[in-house]
This record gives sequence, C-alpha cells and structure tokens, in this order.
Amino acid sequence: MNLSQLDTLAQDIIIRAGERIKQSLHKEMTITEKSSPSDLVTNIDMETEQFFVKEVSEALPEHRLLGEEGFGDTITDWDGYVWIVDPIDGTTNFINQQRNFCITVGIYKDGVGELGYIYQVMTGELISAIRGQGAYQNGVLLPRLKNVEFEDSLIGVNASWVAPNRHIDHHQVAKLIKRVRGTRSYGSAALEISYVVTGRLDAYFSMRLSAWDVAGGMVIANEVGALCGTLGGGEFDLLKKQPFIIANPALFEELVKDYLIS
Ligand code: IPD
Ligand code: CA
Ligand code: CA
Ligand code: CA
Repeated sequence: MNLSQLDTLAQDIIIRAGERIKQSLHKEMTITEKSSPSDLVTNIDMETEQFFVKEVSEALPEHRLLGEEGFGDTITDWDGYVWIVDPIDGTTNFINQQRNFCITVGIYKDGVGELGYIYQVMTGELISAIRGQGAYQNGVLLPRLKNVEFEDSLIGVNASWVAPNRHIDHHQVAKLIKRVRGTRSYGSAALEISYVVTGRLDAYFSMRLSAWDVAGGMVIANEVGALCGTLGGGEFDLLKKQPFIIANPALFEELVKDYLIS
C-alpha cells in the first residue's frame, strides 16, 4: 500500500469513527475516573480506540497501534509502521459540552511521521497531511504560516499555568499574557494544534502531553512551517509524557527563551 492509499484508508477509518461517536451522543454513556477526578474516560473513548484497533489490524496486520486507552500494542521502539491514536482528545469537553473534541492520528514509519490527522468531529473539519506533500483542510491546501509580531499574536494557554504550579514560573507566563494580543483556552491539545497550523492561534503550549496528543499534529505542523518541541526548544520524545509547544516560527525562539524556560 503506498502513502496515498494509506491516507485514503486512514481518512475513511477516522470519518467512520467520528460517525460512531456522533451516534453515541444519543445513548447513555459511562464515565470512569482514571488517575484523578479531572482525568476521565468514557466507554466511547474506549470503544472508539477498539474500533481503530480492529480496522487497522484487519486491513494492515503488520502495522502496530499505540492508543491512549491501551487497547493497541505496547510500544517501546518505532520500528515499522505505528499508528498513534487519540480516540477522543478533549474527553472533558466531550462529556460536558458534546463539542470541541477531536480524533487525532499520526502514522509513523521507523519513527518518522508520514501522515497526520486532526478531525474535529462535531464540525467535520479534517486537517490532514502527508509528509512533504502539504497539509489540507477538508481537501484544500493550507498555506504556510505568515510572520506574526509578538504584540499581534493570539496564544493558547491553560489558565492553570498562571496560577502557582510545579512545572513553570507562572510570573513569566503572566508577563507573556500581558504582552500578546490575547489568549484562548480550548481544552483539547489537538484542537489547539489545529488552530495553530491554520493560523487561528499563533502558539500553544502545555506541560504534560503524550505521543497520542501531538503525533498527528506534528506531521501537519511540518507542512505549514509551524515549529514544535519541548519548552526548552528541544525535540519532543514520543516515548515520554513531556512539555510541548507549537508556534509560528516568528515567535518560537523568543517564546521558549524569554518566557518558558525556568
Ligand atoms: C487532554 C487534552 C487537554 C490537555 C491534557 C490532555 P484527553 O487529552 O488534550 O487539553 O490539557 O493534557 O491529556 O485526555 O482529553 O485525551
Ligand atoms: Ca484522557
Ligand atoms: Ca489527549
Ligand atoms: Ca483521549
């Protein structure tokens, strides 16, 4: 199967997974706590991931799958093809708002991101990319990001980073917030990444993200010239839960150097 056929297959699975999620909104859902009362999972997160595992293993038995809910494979290396899947990114939004959540998928070959997807289920917006072939918004080529001035920028920031916390100097984040045009907080890493690659936000950062939150978005980011990394500006390691930033290239360096490295 070539990359274009793989892209068609992946988009088909993602759209069908989204249809199942929409249908499930009419039924009662089961909500379970994971690590804390603010870390929730529903039966729909789990069923959606199981759907991906079934579809991928039937179509491509040699491909492996890493999913947030643990129904895929245990991944300790990146040999061959690995699908990195967050079946619902923004579970809290899914539960409380029934909107503002995404399915996001990255398909990596030998550790290199080949295909990336962020699908906003309730609006039908699908951002997709094949490495080296551009990024698309429902089939329309996305332009590369234009330069933006710091003072004109809009950035995605979680309010908890301005309160004292153990990850980052909140005084620095407060200074940053005063300097930019505005901040937004959407509650789904993949949604915020999709906003950066389409220029609706100019940067987004978060302290603890995992491979499934960012793998698809990182492939898309490359195609529009957005820069991704850890808050120190280094490469994001997909095997670790880590700080993550994506930004317009005009902001990236100053953002990490002057505001985010503590
Ligand atoms: C979460 C969301 C949230 C981010 C968390 C993630 P989930 O993913 O992306 O915006 O702040 O760190 O874990 O659990 O809803 O898939
Ligand atoms: Ca989760
Ligand atoms: Ca997630
Ligand atoms: Ca999730």
